[in-house]
Amino acid sequence: MSAKHLCFRWAVDLRSFTPSLTQLTSACLLVQPEEKTRLIKFHFIDDFLSSLVGRLLMRKFVSETTNIKHNDIIFDRDVRGKPYLKNSKPDSPQISFNVSHHGSMVVLAGVVVNVHQQTTDDDSQQQNTPSLTTATTTDFGVGIDVMKIEYTGGKTLSEFFRIMTRNFSASEWRYINRTHHTTEQAKLKAFIRNWCLKESFVKNIGVGISIDLQKISFAIQSDDLDTDNIVTSTKLSIDDVPATMWLFEEHMLDKEHCVAIAFRNCIPSEEGEFKFFNFDELLVGGVDKGAPAMEECKEYCRNVLKKERKQIRS
Ligand code: COA
Ligand code: MG
Repeated sequence: MSAKHLCFRWAVDLRSFTPSLTQLTSACLLVQPEEKTRLIKFHFIDDFLSSLVGRLLMRKFVSETTNIKHNDIIFDRDVRGKPYLKNSKPDSPQISFNVSHHGSMVVLAGVVVNVHQQTTDDDSQQQNTPSLTTATTTDFGVGIDVMKIEYTGGKTLSEFFRIMTRNFSASEWRYINRTHHTTEQAKLKAFIRNWCLKESFVKNIGVGISIDLQKISFAIQSDDLDTDNIVTSTKLSIDDVPATMWLFEEHMLDKEHCVAIAFRNCIPSEEGEFKFFNFDELLVGGVDKGAPAMEECKEYCRNVLKKERKQIRS
């Protein structure tokens, strides 16, 4: 693995949050036009806000870790939809970031390495290169997934697990159905932990869940995942080969939201808890785009505020 990487773990809890027109307008002025076009298609305001906050977190991360001015930041998406910084500069630190949203939480994991620190130690990096990865072995990256531990499907949990059989390896199912996971809630937490781990992996390499998830098998060593305990002992095997260039960090943001971060080819400089921000803290860096742009954005936001709420967030 390469030199130590500075890691950022950020979260926003949107529980009970309703933006004012002014807050929403300031936020939307920071978002690129094509993303505003995507966002306005959400039926529920909850989904709109979660996705919007993801964009704001990305922008905050780039502005704080690179020498790119806030207003010059341009994001693009790769063919599979993964956002990346389009206009990175050669003299800027190299970064990797990924966001996720579910329940009331929006999270970002970011990794920074100084260009001068980046290793070219290919020997160590080529060990157990996952055949599933589309990434090169010399780069590094981060993926994150957050999930609320709840099951809202209409079927029974065991019927749902049966449908999901092909997505988990035999050893993962043994873990989920372990005898001491006696309650449905315990089984569900075990399932969701495993799912988050898988998604953090696939999001790291940017392939979505279009790959054979059974081949990516996690061995969870510690049941002791709680709000006051971060777990880093979970191991990954790809096609039964230990994937030593991967590190996984699992967190509980609160009693309901579980997060997995997948680090590829990086050693986090320290273990750390998530830092929570409120909406207003994400609004820095906007520049005056003139009265017509402001009025147009306000009109857009008036329509956003008419969108339906999914549920009352308690
Ligand atoms: N790789 C990595 N990150 C991606 C991505 C990709 N291919 N495509 C989008 N993203 C980023 C974006 O920032 C996106 O935010 P946006 O939707 O607001 O633009 C964010 O990741 C979405 O992540 P998350 O909130 O965790 O969404 P998800 O869990 O629904 O989707 C993917 C994750 C990207 C892997 C999706 O392609 C997918 O396949 N989802 C299926 C999820 C599923 O079936 N879950 C079943 C649970 S039991
Ligand atoms: Mg997800």
